[in-house]
Amino acid sequence: MSTLPVLHLGLCGFGTVGQGVWQHLEANRALLRARLGVDLRVTRVAVRDARRRRDVRLPRGVLCTDPLAIARDPAVPVVCELMGGTGLARQVTLAALRLGKVVVSANKALICEHGPEILATARRHGGHFLFEASVAGGIPIIKALREGLVANRFPRIYGILNGTCNYILTRMKEQGAPYAEVLADAKRLGYAEADESLDVDGWDTAHKAAVLAWLAHGVWVRTDQMIVEGISRLTPDDLRNAATLGFGIKLLAVITRDFRRDELSVRVHPTLLPAGDVIANVNGVFNAVSVSGDVVGTTLYSGRGAGRDATASAVLSDLADAAALLRHGKGAHVPGGEAVVSTRCRLAPPERIRSRYYVRLTVRDQPGVLARVASAMARHRVSIATVIQGPAERPRAASLVLTTHESDERAIGRTLRRLRSLAAVLEDPVLLRIGDFAS
Ligand code: NAP
Ligand code: HSE
Repeated sequence: MSTLPVLHLGLCGFGTVGQGVWQHLEANRALLRARLGVDLRVTRVAVRDARRRRDVRLPRGVLCTDPLAIARDPAVPVVCELMGGTGLARQVTLAALRLGKVVVSANKALICEHGPEILATARRHGGHFLFEASVAGGIPIIKALREGLVANRFPRIYGILNGTCNYILTRMKEQGAPYAEVLADAKRLGYAEADESLDVDGWDTAHKAAVLAWLAHGVWVRTDQMIVEGISRLTPDDLRNAATLGFGIKLLAVITRDFRRDELSVRVHPTLLPAGDVIANVNGVFNAVSVSGDVVGTTLYSGRGAGRDATASAVLSDLADAAALLRHGKGAHVPGGEAVVSTRCRLAPPERIRSRYYVRLTVRDQPGVLARVASAMARHRVSIATVIQGPAERPRAASLVLTTHESDERAIGRTLRRLRSLAAVLEDPVLLRIGDFAS
């Protein structure tokens, strides 16, 4: 019989992540008891469909279909919100925090949309909100920023934050596999969100970037204040063209702070990275985050960014903090939202966001077209660095791939509008940024 204190846990959601948490709690029970001095015991689980077949068979009486009942159950001091979404998930989170509970969350969409309200509720009612699993899967990036790098200000954080997109881009590059087929595999493997457009259109990365920007700078940046572009228009040809030019393509979050001007920029877009950049070589479901601090210099973190096991590892690290709170009360060292110092800074205007660019155009294959394209770019002082012309999929058309010298978001935005208006440009141009962060 256990003589250790028991910490009763409620899991709201028992899909990919919830079942992973259960499995690893079971598999590592003895180790966790020895390390934490507490017996972590899941006593209630909520799902939407209690009749669904699952990988894990739960003991009788554990399963229910009412997550709010778990949030309000006085016998459950720790609630894991592992459902996703921003409706019921918000209600469950707030209800538990209002009762002074610990809430463990993997829900970056919820934090991005309702972070200030959630943290204020936790503060007001003596609850704790822990969210290591919300960003970069199994990489302990939240702890790194909040604890390990606490002495730093952060001029630049960039990296791959979405496992699904990195898995898709890797298989498109290595196997030339069709986008739709690879996306279906990512869903089957439990990497993708229930609504996969959150992944491929860049929103999931944007949610995570918002969480990192808040941790690093104490500012909540809304997704409508960011550039957010996904990978759904990329083709294996873009990956081949990039390789020819000496680059790999990754969907990146880029968070930069200019401390002199006190300006912050948070953006998400597919990016051409020099082939030698470490992050350009992080493949499959792996994520990687480069964090530059003014004290430490540049540090790099990599690991699996999605999937059952990696995410369960992050949830369990929060449960270890919850166990410390149980054992040592409020005196336990568990930095929460209150460890982040709010600051004021402006969002950088478009002309200050500078980059080189890759533009792919599908154009009529006829004399004078290249000259018209070049003239549209010159009009907005965007200087062409390289040109590759090749066949396009449609008849009597050519694919024109241009890279530019350094320009800025305002100039390239105007250039694209001009290009779209040309009769010789047959499809919406594909625009990618070129990021040389190492130099
Ligand atoms: P999932 O496999 O779709 O599981 C969601 C679970 O929530 C299911 O058990 C579902 O019940 C339950 N649920 C949904 N709506 C409910 C409702 N209205 N009432 C009761 N239960 C409800 O999702 P997941 O991949 O585990 O993701 C869960 C959360 O973790 C999301 O916020 C996601 O963004 C985040 N996350 C996921 C990963 C990953 O790699 N998958 C990584 C990091 C973070 P049924 O099973 O009955 O449908
Ligand atoms: N769908 C997300 C991803 C899950 O692929 O990265 C991890 O947050």
